[in-house]
Amino acid sequence: MSTKKLDVVILAAGKGTRMRSDLPKVLHTVGGKPFLTHVVECAETLSATNISVVVGHGSELVKKTMEGRSLNFIEQTEQLGTGHAVQQALPYLDEASTTLILYGDVPLISPDTLRNLLEKVSNNSMGLLTMIAKDPTGYGRIIRDAENNVTAIVEQKDASEEQKLIQEVNTGVMAVATKDLQNWLPQLTDNNAQKEYLLTDIIALAASDGVSIETAHPASEAEVLGVNNRAQQAELERIYQQGIADDLMQQGLTLLDPSRFDCRGSLKVGRDCVIDVNCVFEGECELGDGVVIGPNCHIVDSTIASNVEIKSHTILEQALVGNNATIGPFARLRPQANLADGAKVGNFVEIKKANIGEGSKVNHLSYVGDANVGAGVNIGAGTITCNYDGANKFVTEIGDGVFVGSNSALVAPVKLGKNVTVGAGSTITTDVQDGALTVARSRQRNIDGWERPKKK
Ligand code: UD1
Ligand code: CA
Repeated sequence: MSTKKLDVVILAAGKGTRMRSDLPKVLHTVGGKPFLTHVVECAETLSATNISVVVGHGSELVKKTMEGRSLNFIEQTEQLGTGHAVQQALPYLDEASTTLILYGDVPLISPDTLRNLLEKVSNNSMGLLTMIAKDPTGYGRIIRDAENNVTAIVEQKDASEEQKLIQEVNTGVMAVATKDLQNWLPQLTDNNAQKEYLLTDIIALAASDGVSIETAHPASEAEVLGVNNRAQQAELERIYQQGIADDLMQQGLTLLDPSRFDCRGSLKVGRDCVIDVNCVFEGECELGDGVVIGPNCHIVDSTIASNVEIKSHTILEQALVGNNATIGPFARLRPQANLADGAKVGNFVEIKKANIGEGSKVNHLSYVGDANVGAGVNIGAGTITCNYDGANKFVTEIGDGVFVGSNSALVAPVKLGKNVTVGAGSTITTDVQDGALTVARSRQRNIDGWERPKKK
C-alpha cells in the first residue's frame, strides 16, 4: 500500500447535453445532494491532501454550490477529452503523490472501493478500476496479453469487432503515481475516432514503460454508474434509496415498503419504529424509540422523541416533538414548533414558532403561531392566534390549564392567565387574569314569532 500523499482529481467539466437542463450535470442530485457533492464527500473520507475539481460548463455555479469546501477548481475551457482534463490539473499536483481520478457524474462510488484501488499503486504499478459488464457497449474495453497483464484500453469507437466482445470494461476510475502522469499525459495525441485526448491511452504507455496495471473492482456495479440522462438519474436514486432503506432495516426499523421510502439527508432511528409508505425525510431527522409514522408524511430537519405517533399526511419542518405526542392526520408543524411530552396536534392544525406544553391539545383546524402554550391546555377547534398586524409579529401567552372555546381569535400581544376559560367565538384583545372566564362576542337575541320575508 502506498503511504504517499494523495491528490484527488474529479472531472466535472462536461455539459451533460442529454440531461436537457440549464443546470450543469454534476449539480443534479441523487438523495437530495448534487452528484459532485457525493463524490467530494467520498474523496474527503480518504484524507486527501488536495482535491482538485476540473470544471468547464457552468463552472461559476458549480463553484458557488461547492462554496465552503476546501477544493481546488481548475478551468477546462474546452472539453478536449478526459486526458486533456486531467492534464489541466497537472501543475497543481505534488509529484511525490498518488493521483486518484474520479468523476463528478459517478456519484455512488464508495471509499472502500477506492481504498482497495489505492492499495494497487506502488513505485512500479498503477491501479485501474474495472468490472465485468453484462453489456459492455459504450465502455472502454480492457485488453490483456497472454499472461493476463493489462496492456491497453480500447474505446468503443476504436474497438475491433473482436475487441467489442471483451466484457471487462474500464470504469474510468484510476490511481496513478503523479510522476507517471506527468510523464504520460503530455504524450497523448487526439489520433483516435473521437478526436479527443483520451485518459485511457495512458494505459498502453504504462505497459510499455514496464509499469504494471493492477486491477481492482467495485463492490457493486452501481458504484461506477455514471449519469447521462434523467432515466439513469432516477435509476441511481432508487439504488441509493434502497441502500439507505436496507441500512435502516438492519438497524431495526420497519419500513412497510422500502421501495416507497425516501431519505434526502440523514435519518437516525431508535428501536421498533415503523414508517408507512411514501414518507419523505429531508435534512437531519431523528426518531426515538417506538415512533410510528403513517403514510405520506414529509419530515424535514426534525427531532422526534419516543412513542410518538404521526398520522398520515403530516408535514414537519424544524420541529421538536416530545415523548408520547400525537400529531395529525393532516397537521403542519413549521419551524420552531416545539411540542412537549404528551401534546396532541390534530387535523388541519398549523403550528409555527410555538411551544405547546405537556399534555396540551390543539385538535382541530387551528393556527398557533408565535405562542407559548402552557401544560394541560385545550385549544378548541378553529382557534387562531392573530400574531401579525401586517407589519410586526406579536406573541400570545397561554397559561397552564386554559380552555379556549371554539372559533376564538386571540389577538396578540395578549396573555391568558392560568386556568382561564375563553367562551366560544370570542375575539380576545386584552389580557385575562388567572381563573377568569372571558367572553368577547355580542350577546344572543331571540325574537319570538319571527316571520321570514315572502317572495313577491
Ligand atoms: C470514459 C472512458 C471509458 C470508460 C467510461 C466509463 C475515456 C477516454 N474513456 O468514457 O473508457 O469506459 O468513461 O464511464 O476516458 N470530461 C471532462 N472534460 C473532458 C472530457 C470529459 O471533464 O474534456 C468529464 C465528463 O464530464 C465526464 C467524464 O469526464 O464526466 C467522462 O467523460 P466522457 O466523455 O463521458 O467519457 P466516456 O465516453 O464515458
Ligand atoms: Ca466521450
